[in-house]
Amino acid sequence: MSRPSAKPVVHIDQGRIRATEWRFEPGAETGWHIHGHDYTVVPLTDGELLIEEPGGGTRAAPLVRHAPYSRMAGVHHNVVNNGGQPLSFLEIEVVEDPLQEKRLQTLMRFGDAWNAHDLDTLMDCMADDCAFHASAGSVPEGAVHAGRDAVRAAFAAVFDDFPDAQWTHPQHRVVGDVGLSTWRFVGRNRDGVLVAVDGCDLLRFSGARIAQKDSYRKSKVPAKA
Ligand code: NI
Repeated sequence: MSRPSAKPVVHIDQGRIRATEWRFEPGAETGWHIHGHDYTVVPLTDGELLIEEPGGGTRAAPLVRHAPYSRMAGVHHNVVNNGGQPLSFLEIEVVEDPLQEKRLQTLMRFGDAWNAHDLDTLMDCMADDCAFHASAGSVPEGAVHAGRDAVRAAFAAVFDDFPDAQWTHPQHRVVGDVGLSTWRFVGRNRDGVLVAVDGCDLLRFSGARIAQKDSYRKSKVPAKA
């Protein structure tokens, strides 16, 4: 069953501020989207939202007229009017510069490509002059892989070592020319041993592409008796 579309009406699109009124008939949805900017929502009516999230999760969220809330860039969802009445809210976005937006899109595409085990897309996100510093290695930086061929081989080795590897609950932020991606690595190695550990990447950009991926993971120790 397809739902009707919510109707966006842009009221302000000037400099760093964009204000969009979203109008939903009962059952209408925004469609899946990723927020590229920090934003504040000001409900113009009461209402009942259904939020669909990646991975199949859903949750109900009441909309309370004139009670605003804010979210950070990177939110990924589909928003549905789950009530019996029309509803509307004003979405006010803080628009960063276009390069910052492209960098954030790169991090999201890069994260999706890791989960899809898609080496071509991974390398498309990497700059011509690139490096990967792994989370483990014999030197303080972790194993250093410099240059596109070495980086591609190192990425391929991750998929080879963990054929079902996934990076769950990804969160991405960009500050200047530095990106931060956090995730939980979950995968079984070739011996069938399950590894589940939180970690992050610090990423340095060259333009909108990644010049360096520097990976960190928590180190598990046995629980104290
Ligand atoms: Ni949204």
